[in-house]
Amino acid sequence: MTSSESGPLAVIPDSPVSEAIRPLAESIIDHAALVRNLGRLRSTNGAKFMAVVKAGAFGHGAVETARTAVGAGAEWLGVATIEEAVELRAAGITAPILVWLIDPWCDLPAALAARVTLSCANVETLTAVASAAARSGVIADVQLELDTGMARAGSTEELWGGLCAVAVAGEASGQIRVSGLWSHLAMANIPDASSIDGPLKAFERGVASARAIGLTPDEVHLANSAATLAHPETALTMVRCGASLYGIETVDGESHGLEPALRLLTRVTQLRRVPAGTGVGYGHRYSPARDTTLVLLPVGYADGVPRSLGGLAEVVIGGIRYPMVGAISMDQIMVDVGDADVAIGDEVVLLGNPADGEPDAAEWARIANTLSHEILTGLGARIKQRHINVL
Ligand SMILES: Cc1ncc(COP(=O)(O)O)c(C=O)c1O
Repeated sequence: MTSSESGPLAVIPDSPVSEAIRPLAESIIDHAALVRNLGRLRSTNGAKFMAVVKAGAFGHGAVETARTAVGAGAEWLGVATIEEAVELRAAGITAPILVWLIDPWCDLPAALAARVTLSCANVETLTAVASAAARSGVIADVQLELDTGMARAGSTEELWGGLCAVAVAGEASGQIRVSGLWSHLAMANIPDASSIDGPLKAFERGVASARAIGLTPDEVHLANSAATLAHPETALTMVRCGASLYGIETVDGESHGLEPALRLLTRVTQLRRVPAGTGVGYGHRYSPARDTTLVLLPVGYADGVPRSLGGLAEVVIGGIRYPMVGAISMDQIMVDVGDADVAIGDEVVLLGNPADGEPDAAEWARIANTLSHEILTGLGARIKQRHINVL
């Protein structure tokens, strides 16, 4: 009997789920996987390990990931901005932190108060750091960045001698201490050694000339994830790993047994049975060829699901893959589950482990013509993080 046959219900029946408050979408970050990835990376060399936790640890939670990495033996942390470093210090993390996006207008006093290490790649920045240190009455810990063939950040080889000379003067006057020299590799993803030979030699030249004029760096480093895994000769005193810590494979054509550490889950929020030919979503970009069941997921491109996945990517419900259909909206996605027995509240895996047949960030990245890095760092603020297997 329907309510239209019987009139309005006198009493609304009890909801079976009224007490189970859960976020519409959450990312589950498995710290045991982070630790296993870190161990895998460490096993390739005897160097120190810098865990790169910029951009919210690639969407995995900067503070939580940094704590785990340090707990698992990472000697250093690496971030892009002073604000990221200060957040880690505010959370009580005391490990050395290198910050590499510095210019004279950054909040240098905050960085010095937080005792973080500042990368300098030009004389303007180095003198600003030295002056800020003099004003604050502290010795600034500095690492100099050399460009060894990426033509992005870092001092050119031409200007390197002048930068080192200013650093020597800054050390003599007690304003700075140069604890490291570093560079970044543009093509370590190519397994052939020819991709790193030139940069490695350029870096060795830069280190030698810096030492020759009196700098005594403790750390010399240029290896990222791909270099750590494919070119162990680049490990020097320290490696800096981001992507691989989060399970992203970065060496072309190779798999190094890294595990995704993040699962992105949501749930079926509505479902409807529709006849063949029904236009679905904005622009009616999809219409099923047969009668079918459509389910609504409460996430969209504002949460980091690229709009270009519409009609191309899949989700997993109850161990089975189903297609995302129609246009992806800002907050909503439709999935065609055919005649499957799916119910409101069923768990939906958006990102999981390919070893279990689930899509991962690399699968989305292939479809969206981008990198796993962009997928993971693009997860939106509405996705709630849940940390499991924390040390
Ligand atoms: C300066 C610097 N060093 C190291 C890394 C780590 O590189 P990867 O994520 O490839 O390990 C990055 C970026 O992530 C970086 O910008």
